[in-house]
Amino acid sequence: MLSKIERVSLGFFPTPWQELKNLSDYLGGPRIFTKREDQSGLALGGNKVRKLEYILADALAQKADVIITFGAVSSNHARQTAAAAALLGLECQLILTGKEPEQPQGNYLLDKILGAKTFCVRNREVEDTLVRLTADNLKQGKRSYVIPAGGHTILGTIAYIQAYQEIKQQFPFTLDGIITAIGTGTTYAGLYLGSQLDQNRFPVVGISVGGDKSWCASEATKVVQATLQHLDLSVPAMVAMEIYDEYVGEGYTIPYPQVRLAIELLARTEGILLDPVYSGKAMAGLIDLIHKGRFQAGDNIMFLHTGGAPELFTMHRFLSEK
Ligand SMILES: Cc1ncc(COP(=O)(O)O)c(C=O)c1O
Repeated sequence: MLSKIERVSLGFFPTPWQELKNLSDYLGGPRIFTKREDQSGLALGGNKVRKLEYILADALAQKADVIITFGAVSSNHARQTAAAAALLGLECQLILTGKEPEQPQGNYLLDKILGAKTFCVRNREVEDTLVRLTADNLKQGKRSYVIPAGGHTILGTIAYIQAYQEIKQQFPFTLDGIITAIGTGTTYAGLYLGSQLDQNRFPVVGISVGGDKSWCASEATKVVQATLQHLDLSVPAMVAMEIYDEYVGEGYTIPYPQVRLAIELLARTEGILLDPVYSGKAMAGLIDLIHKGRFQAGDNIMFLHTGGAPELFTMHRFLSEK
């Protein structure tokens, strides 16, 4: 079904998976596995590389010269897009919301190293900046290709249907849950749709890092419906989405002590680095769900490690608090 969709190679796939035995023992809970999307290879990896393999294949087909995308100054998506554009010999322009850091660090520093042009603007200036950049590019005879924030598109969703199928092929056991962070909701939507096309065989659980539950469900539903239409598929009876917004804390990019504890726990039991914005928050949520009995001893679950480690460095103060 997906093999006919163009894909350009940018990273290392299939990404590996491993068992987190020490973590399971520590929690006294289910068998926990992780799929290492953070090991997808391109410029420190992450879940956007898989999406970009489909999205940038489309950009190449459309003869784009410049890739434009959006995100926060701390965006992993922006960094991975900058790296992908560099690899494909395309220009990259990043419209980033937030103050320009006096001393570039984390993802923003990497955007610079990767040669992207960065434009730090206020939220309300994003649209005008986009119009100006595309017009300037056109004047110079360059065709722009615009990727929505986070790669929240049909092709981004298709990438994670493919990831679901990859898990099924790779993994020898039945899974009682695949758990992922929800930012824009594309990763969740693709995995969920993959599961619905497979009679909900491996149920998918989303943990929001910013939006409330109804916003996440509506964003995910929009791309799910658009993707079904694009692929000319239908699923007669979809199970309801399982999404938690109890672990957002005060908001997107604002971590809290349980996130730090989750990051330290994974580091100290498994030698794996999560991040404070996405995978650390999702892991804090998963640990609480295990404590509350949502997943139990005897279950097999897969935590999708979506990457994000560069932001450990910008949040060094929070991470070194006692
Ligand atoms: C490290 C990391 N994890 C998870 C996500 C969430 O992915 P999605 O936007 O597909 O929900 C992102 C998105 O930016 C991310 O950078």
